[in-house]
Amino acid sequence: MGLTIGVDVGGTKIASGVVDEEGRILESGVRHSPAGSPEKMALTIAEAVTDLAGRHEVEAVGIGAAGFIDETRSVVRFAPNLAWREEPLRKKVSELVDLPVVVENDANAMAWGEYRFGAGRGESHVVCVTVGTGIGGGIVLAGDLYRGRWGMGAELGHTQAVPGGRACGCGNQGCWEKYASGSALLVDAKENAQADPSSAVRLLELAGSVEGIKGEHVTEAARRGDAASLAAFASLAGWLGQGLADIAAILDPGCFILGGGVSGAADLFLDGVRDEFAARLTGRGHRPLAEIRVAELGPAAGVVGAADLARLR
Ligand code: BGC
Ligand code: NA
Ligand code: ZN
Repeated sequence: MGLTIGVDVGGTKIASGVVDEEGRILESGVRHSPAGSPEKMALTIAEAVTDLAGRHEVEAVGIGAAGFIDETRSVVRFAPNLAWREEPLRKKVSELVDLPVVVENDANAMAWGEYRFGAGRGESHVVCVTVGTGIGGGIVLAGDLYRGRWGMGAELGHTQAVPGGRACGCGNQGCWEKYASGSALLVDAKENAQADPSSAVRLLELAGSVEGIKGEHVTEAARRGDAASLAAFASLAGWLGQGLADIAAILDPGCFILGGGVSGAADLFLDGVRDEFAARLTGRGHRPLAEIRVAELGPAAGVVGAADLARLR
């Protein structure tokens, strides 16, 4: 099979691209994500596909979507951070674009892209953790993408970190993604600034007020030595390192890959994650330490992975 289209659908944007068999993107596009409306979401995805398919001879479409996808790779059954509920996304989009479509979990798609063409090349057991609005997980075991019995495996963000902790979009409390995601970083930085404004002088300078603090402010302030922001990154690193140690206890992967929006600021937390991982890993000292790497394909990993999974469908 020749060219396929990959689409990565998130809460803020819809990224798309025409991808060849080597994982190269020949043309890409970005659209604003109408996240509140499943109808508009399907239409916008179809528009992105139609536009690209008009200029390239493509054979199939892979959509990476941030939610729980059924085992036939057709329906988004549930999305903790988006409006999809029992959404027949494959049917809707394939009717609009007249091409075969598969729907994949966004983090699974990203993990597959990194495994095939990025930081996981040459590895056999890879766990990818995407750190963004939520936490996504993608697991490649002995070269196969692990989907579980019902398609919903690898929902790593919804394992419990804190009993009775922060309320999660999935309906549970204390999920890992409420402590180790980009949204958690923001919550922590705001809490720190509120509790002790004198520790957050640079952060508050950039943001204007506690309410005005955005993710990029926290990153920028941390780079300038802001204590409240550095503490938020240290907390993120701690939660991530502990979580990876827990995952290693179950899956024993050869490498972890950290992706998602926040991985662009990996210089601010990667060492911390590695330290915490090494300090928490069960059996430490008597087993190899899995490597913890940053995604190589960057924001394109989801597009490349979804396109490749459509090709292999
Ligand atoms: C969702 C996952 C998704 C992840 C990253 C989580 O909240 O449950 O399905 O992969 O966010 O977008
Ligand atoms: Na997943
Ligand atoms: Zn949850």
